[in-house]
Amino acid sequence: MNRVRYKFYTLILISMTTLTSCKQETKSTEDSIDAKVKTLLSKMTLEEKIGQMNQYNGFWDVTGPTPSTGDAAKKYEDLRKGYVGSMLNVRGVENVRAVQKIAVEESRLGIPLIIGFDLIHGYKTLSPIPLAESASWDLDAIKHAAEVAALEASAAGINWTFAPMVDISRDARWGRVMEGAGEDPYLGSLIAQARVHGFQGDDLSKPNTLAACAKHFAGYGFVEGGKEYNTVDVGTSTLYNVVFPPFKAAVDADVKTFMNAFNLLNGIPSTGNTFLQRNILKGTWDFKGFVVSDWASIEEMRKHGFAKDMKQAAEIAANAGCDMDMESDAYVIELAALVKEGKVSEAVIDEAVSRILKVKYELGLFDDPYKYCDEEREKSVVGSQDIQNAVLDMAKKSIVLLKNENQLLPLKKQGQNIAVIGKLAQDKTSPLGSWRLAADNGTAVSFLEGMKAYPDNTITFAKGADVTAEEPSFTKEIKINTTDKSGFDDAIKTAKQADVVVMVLGEHAFESGEARSRTKLGLPGVQQELLEAVFAVNKNMVLVLNNGRPLTIPWAAEHVPAIVEAWQLGTQSGNAIAQVLYGDYNPSGKLPVTFPRTVGQVPMFYNHNQTGRPTPKNPGDVFWSHYIDVENTPLYPFGFGLSYTTFEYSNLEVSKSGDNSFKVSFDLKNTGAIAGKETAQVYIRDLVASVVRPVKELKGFKQVTLEPGETKNITITLTDKELGFFDNDGNYLVEPGEFKIFVGGSSDTELEVSITL
Ligand code: NOJ
Repeated sequence: MNRVRYKFYTLILISMTTLTSCKQETKSTEDSIDAKVKTLLSKMTLEEKIGQMNQYNGFWDVTGPTPSTGDAAKKYEDLRKGYVGSMLNVRGVENVRAVQKIAVEESRLGIPLIIGFDLIHGYKTLSPIPLAESASWDLDAIKHAAEVAALEASAAGINWTFAPMVDISRDARWGRVMEGAGEDPYLGSLIAQARVHGFQGDDLSKPNTLAACAKHFAGYGFVEGGKEYNTVDVGTSTLYNVVFPPFKAAVDADVKTFMNAFNLLNGIPSTGNTFLQRNILKGTWDFKGFVVSDWASIEEMRKHGFAKDMKQAAEIAANAGCDMDMESDAYVIELAALVKEGKVSEAVIDEAVSRILKVKYELGLFDDPYKYCDEEREKSVVGSQDIQNAVLDMAKKSIVLLKNENQLLPLKKQGQNIAVIGKLAQDKTSPLGSWRLAADNGTAVSFLEGMKAYPDNTITFAKGADVTAEEPSFTKEIKINTTDKSGFDDAIKTAKQADVVVMVLGEHAFESGEARSRTKLGLPGVQQELLEAVFAVNKNMVLVLNNGRPLTIPWAAEHVPAIVEAWQLGTQSGNAIAQVLYGDYNPSGKLPVTFPRTVGQVPMFYNHNQTGRPTPKNPGDVFWSHYIDVENTPLYPFGFGLSYTTFEYSNLEVSKSGDNSFKVSFDLKNTGAIAGKETAQVYIRDLVASVVRPVKELKGFKQVTLEPGETKNITITLTDKELGFFDNDGNYLVEPGEFKIFVGGSSDTELEVSITL
């Protein structure tokens, strides 16, 4: 054996030994946790077991309708009795310590609580909304954003987040589009894993990591008409190939918990759905963690007409595999009787409780229930400079440049008179986004503040018009200004005198998120009118969009020379946008969702199936799949995003690199004058299959930074994992035949080759 080989074998041997010992360690930790769970379970009364399956909301904040049962006194009493396994919306070391102390020191068995919170895009220091983060396509950055959220929240007593939301959605009307990773199951799966790894780290028992939760299982992103809490009817092909993959990816990343969903899935509420929770999740996927209901979703099965009363709802949910009850008070009230009547077996209870206790052991809560309750750590970590830096970095990476005619951007740093117009430019709250319960109002860096950090230009501000008619809040219906245009004149005057106008328009943060579905996707209120009025006097205009979903902005796309998609970017929003506008950060984001031309095109997504009549036979023919009043294309396609430089793709080749394994290689050149980062995307199309496949499917991407004039050869490998699909019985198939492979900087790329499998 020559030396090189010898070294190679030694390496394999060493890594195999390390691997085996790692596996052994994990196995023995698991065994010992299982043994501890068993011992504890044997000491518990039925009521105490059911208590572990009960989650109460805290005493101050609500993230859902207030339940009719249970007041504060009852909650304290149940804590003392050991009838509470978890609380949500209790935050801050002092508050968490107070409830934990009761559970640990006053209940008979002293079982610690697991404390849940919606860390959807951060705790007190906000990162961009998840849809925006997803526009970065930067998995390391997204993972780091979750790490940072876990760091900050765990310092404030929290050890479980109800995130990531991994629901794929194709409907911009649905407000919760802001909370997900967009429309694509491949990108969505990778982002789901990045977020789970970020939250949970490599060791759940560390005090700066917490348990993640993949939600909402399943289909919630497909609510009919995009209307919140509505029914879902999806076909099996979509269920297996689009809805499930990010959830499965989360299980593969060892996510510790799942949340079920409010919606019916093909007539059966997700919360009472045995197929979803027992057959797929705990069966086929062998998920070892626990499932929590969504807020009052057990009780809501009664309203759906699936259970005749709360008692039957509790029975159905427990038997279907929902382990913990969030805010229905159904388990704590009804389960004991159901067990005594034989309607729910004690084995079902034991299984649910074991799953919950296991996660508590893994978090290390039994070793030290107060490990997340260190006041000093809370003071030094929450809002720290490191966290601010991290959210700023994420915010810059999330921005998408949609248009930049005549290189209006980047802005000159000196000698410019810049008019900043739009109420959102001044807003220090809306950029925080929709899920920001722990953040104080007014703590975001506004766009105006970000711009003023560049002192050598003159900035003049005019609000033009208010976006909202009154101060909005998380729990109340938002009121939009649809009448007051009294600020228009001032805005027009300001714009006339400027070299460049920057308009900051779009949605207030509380127009997207939970319970914020919309039927219109244009600029809300009087903002479109304001835009056109200002444009009439100064066409040298940059439009900065703030929004939590795709907007329909056909007029702006046609007329305004530069458009920047800036979502809701969190605490450092203003700094991030200003740094991009001034070219200190070259924008690199790509849309994770399709932007339609009009709301009537919704649902519109790039990975649709081909119809039998995809194009007209002759120009002017009517019998083909289209609308008669709008083009058949989106305004901005999935994967699209510009840079201050330009890129060219060439020399696409695909070669076989093994059984069902192909190497896709191509050259990527920076053809502009400055360095830039491009996200090179690979799509496939399986031309003929036993279940029809989409016209394009994203199956790989790479982020590459290139100096001006530099070319790099990029290689991306496609295997069975990328080339197959699920049939309607859930079997994964890789079928031989012809495939097209596409490469480019967006889903509408036309650079393609064919391969045969
Ligand atoms: C309801 C939402 O659907 C869910 O995502 C969230 O985690 C819970 N409320 C708790 O706030």
